[in-house]
Amino acid sequence: MLVLNNKCNFTKNEFIDYQKELQEIAATADVILCPTAINISNFNLTNISLGAQDVSKFSKGAHTGEISASQLASYNVKYCIVGHSERRTSFHETENDINLKIKNLLENNIIPIVCLGETLLEKQENLTSEKLTNAAKKLKNNLTKEEVNKLIIAYEPLWAIGSGLIPNITELEQNLSILKQNFPHNKILYGGSIDTNNIKIFQESTLLDGYLLGGLSLNPTSLKKILKILKNN
Ligand code: PGA
Repeated sequence: MLVLNNKCNFTKNEFIDYQKELQEIAATADVILCPTAINISNFNLTNISLGAQDVSKFSKGAHTGEISASQLASYNVKYCIVGHSERRTSFHETENDINLKIKNLLENNIIPIVCLGETLLEKQENLTSEKLTNAAKKLKNNLTKEEVNKLIIAYEPLWAIGSGLIPNITELEQNLSILKQNFPHNKILYGGSIDTNNIKIFQESTLLDGYLLGGLSLNPTSLKKILKILKNN
């Protein structure tokens, strides 16, 4: 599984051109494209699933600027990233907000892709295991078992996002195994500075079900390369 997080990129025409390139590359893999919200209504690919990058914690009503889960569902959105570190940090999203978002998504049959990960400081202070365990606990406390089993979990160390830095395989497997213990029935993805050179390292993992690509999602040539590498393994 490949999740493409376009973040805040592509004007209308750029997105239309980008999709033309994706048309030819997507057929061989399970790919989910998460465009910027304004581009969702221009999504026209049939060989890729549609995702969103965020959703409102409110279900409808007087919340200027928000987009609800039912509105996303009405545009055939099937997946939605929740709790991305950029939203937690820049938009002060709390665990409570994230839980409300997950509930709203599930009520509208949209699969949440929940992002979890440690900061650089937490990593340096050996707090990663605690951070991931607590995050998992909070999620499980607020959702039913059935709801938990519907989540896709994305391990995204904050220090790896957009930085060019990645965990080594030992670190990666240790941290993924914490998530796997907590979410034995869920797909687990990794995101953070994946590129065409380092993808091989992630392929060594026995615990990963896929990848979340940010920067690389913007470049169809690199995407083609990644898909080719994944197909050959
Ligand atoms: P990156 O972003 O691939 O650009 O590091 C990943 C993400 O933020 O999900």
